[in-house]
Amino acid sequence: MSYPFQINSLAQYHADYKAAAENPDAFWANVADNFCWRKKWDKVLGWNFTEPKIEWFAGAKLNITENCLDRHLEKLGDKPAIIWEPNNVDEPARTLTYKELHAQIIQFAQVLKNNNVNRGDRVCIYMGMIPELTIAVLACARIGAIHSVIFGGFSAQSIADRMQDAKASCIITCDGAFRGNKIIDLKAVVDDALLQENVVQKVIVFARTKTPVIMMDGRDVWWDDEMNKISITDFTVAEEMDAEDPLFILYTSGSTGKPKGVVHTCAGYMIWTTYTFVNMFNYQQGDVHFCTADIGWITGHSYIIYGPLAAGATSVMFEGIPTFPDVGRFWDIIDKHQVNILYTAPTALRSLMSFGNEPLQGKNLSSLKTLGTVGEPINEEAWHWYDDNIGKNKCPIVDTWWQTETGGCLITNLAGITPAKPSWATLPMPGVQPIIVDEKGEETSPNPSEGGALVTSGNLCIKAPWPGMLRTTWGDHERCRVNYFATYPNLYFTGDGALKDAEGNYRITGRVDDVLNISGHRIGTAEVENAINMHNGVIESAVVGYPHDIKGQGIYAFVIYNGEQMDDNILRQNIAATISKAIGAIAKPDKIQFVSGLPKTRSGKIMRRILRKIAEGETENLGDITTLLDPDVVAEIRDGKV
Ligand code: WT7
Repeated sequence: MSYPFQINSLAQYHADYKAAAENPDAFWANVADNFCWRKKWDKVLGWNFTEPKIEWFAGAKLNITENCLDRHLEKLGDKPAIIWEPNNVDEPARTLTYKELHAQIIQFAQVLKNNNVNRGDRVCIYMGMIPELTIAVLACARIGAIHSVIFGGFSAQSIADRMQDAKASCIITCDGAFRGNKIIDLKAVVDDALLQENVVQKVIVFARTKTPVIMMDGRDVWWDDEMNKISITDFTVAEEMDAEDPLFILYTSGSTGKPKGVVHTCAGYMIWTTYTFVNMFNYQQGDVHFCTADIGWITGHSYIIYGPLAAGATSVMFEGIPTFPDVGRFWDIIDKHQVNILYTAPTALRSLMSFGNEPLQGKNLSSLKTLGTVGEPINEEAWHWYDDNIGKNKCPIVDTWWQTETGGCLITNLAGITPAKPSWATLPMPGVQPIIVDEKGEETSPNPSEGGALVTSGNLCIKAPWPGMLRTTWGDHERCRVNYFATYPNLYFTGDGALKDAEGNYRITGRVDDVLNISGHRIGTAEVENAINMHNGVIESAVVGYPHDIKGQGIYAFVIYNGEQMDDNILRQNIAATISKAIGAIAKPDKIQFVSGLPKTRSGKIMRRILRKIAEGETENLGDITTLLDPDVVAEIRDGKV
C-alpha cells in the first residue's frame, strides 16, 4: 500500500515539485491532512528570512508521539516498530511491536513526570544505541519536554557545555555501553561532567553493561526501579503541543565558537521527516529499514526514530560497530532481519570496501531493495562498489544531501523514481528551492565544464522555507540569524559548495566554511584549535582538513609549541589526549606538525588556504603569498615534518 503523499512516477515528481513551489500552503496542507491533529492549523506558512521567523501550521495542536505510535495501534499494533540488534552476537535480538513500544513510552513518560520533568524542560540523553534510548526520546516528546541527545563519543566537557547551554534539569544515561569489544563507562563520564555543572537535578540510569557505578543519593535513580514504581493507572495523557513548540535541541559544530543548539519544532519536523522518509526510499508498508547512524546525530533522529515511526515502518537499530565481531557484520544483519532498505555513510562503505570482497562470501543480501548514503560526498569508486557488490546492480542508490539544520533530506534522487547520477545528490525534494550564488550573492550562470557540459558552481543556498528547517539556535536567535541568514539577504546559506548541471542536478562539493567532515562527523576547526590551545606550552594552532581515503577528510593541525622540550611523538599524544578530553576522540588530529610560526596577513588573519594546500601535499603552487607578514614561514612549514 502506498501513502497518499507518495511520489509514484517521474511525471508525478515534476508535478508535485511544481505544485509545492507554486502553492506551498495548499501542497503542505494536503500532506498534513494525513496526520493526526488535536486541532488543525489556522495558517500553513508564515515566514521571513530576515529575523528570521518561520512558522508552519501555526495554531495547530498535536503530539508527535500520537502520530508515531497511537494512531498505528489499531492496524499495526503487532507489527515490529523497532528491531534491535545487540553489539554482541550471542545476545538475542529484541523486537518491540508498536503496542510494546507505546506501552514503554507512556510508562517512561510517567517516570519523567515523577522525577519532576515537565513540559518545556530540557532533558539530555547520553546513552548507547539500545531501545531505551528511543524510549527516552519519545517519552520526552510525550510530555513536551525538549530532548537533547548527546552522541556517546563526546567527552565530559562536551556534555557539561551542552547541559549548561540548554539548562537541562535531567540527564538520562546508562551504566555503560557495549561498542565492539569495549565497554564505554557512560555514567562515569556523566559524573565527571556534573562535577562542573549545577543545573542537573536528576540522573536516570539504565543498567545495560552491569558496570559498577556510583549513584549519588537523591540525584541518581535507576531506570528499572522508577519504571517498577508505576502502575498502569498512573499514566498521564500525551501533552497537547503547539505546532511550533520546540521538539528537540541537537548541538552541532559551526565555523566559530562552541557547538550551537539547533532547534526543531513539532509539526513541521514531523511532516518533513515522514514525507522525505517515504519518498526518498520509496518506502512500502512492510519494508524493513536499517539506518546505521547513531541516534546522537540528526540522521538517527530523523530516519531511525521519527520518520520511520510516523510512517508506521519497521526500523532496525544496531548497538554495535560495522567491524565487530568481523567486517561482515552489516551483511549478517541484513540477512538476519531481511532488511529491504540500507541507509549508511560513504565512510563506512569505503572502510568496508578496503577489506575486499572476501567478507561478502556466503552473504545473501537478496532482501535488499534500496540503498542510501548520507553525511558526505560519495566518491564514484565507493558508489560503484556499493552498487555492484551490495545492491548487485538491482537496487537504486539514493545519495541524500541534508544537514542537522534541515531536519530531513533536501536534495536526493528518489529510489526507482528519479534517475541516479553517481556522486551527485541530483534533484531537490518538492518544497525545496535551491539556488547557487557567488561570493556576492548573485545567482551564478553556467560555465562550460571540462567535459564541455554547462555546469554552474558556487555556494548552495535555499530560497524559501520547507517544513523541517531549523527555527532558531537555542538561547541565541541572533547566532542563528548571523550563521544562516546574514551571509546573503533573504537566503538560507547551507555552508556547502555545489555544482549544478544542465538538467538541474546538484552535486555537493563539500563545506566552504571552516567546518570539517571527518567520517561523516561534523567538527569545527575553531573547536579543535581551542582544545589544542588548552594544552600547556601551546602558543597557537591552526587546523585544516585534507583529503583522506577512508574518512573523507582528515584533521591536520599546525601547532606552535614553546613549552618544556620533549619527544615530538609524546607531545603529539599529549595534545591528542587534551583534545579527547575537551571534545572527544572523534576530534583527534590525524597529523600534527610543529611549526615556529603561522602564515598570517598583516591584519593578523591566518591564511588557511595556504595551510590547506600544504596539508594536501601541494608544494609548488601555494598561491599569492606576498600579502603575508612573514612569507618565509611558508617554506619552513612546507618543508617541515609531520
Ligand atoms: C553536512 C551536514 C545529513 C545528516 C548527516 C550529516 C555534508 C551531508 C551529504 C551528501 C555530500 C553531504 C554536507 C552538509 N553532507 N550529506 N549526500 N553529499 N555532502 O549532518 O552533521 O549536520 O552535516 O554534511 O557538507 O553540510 P551534519
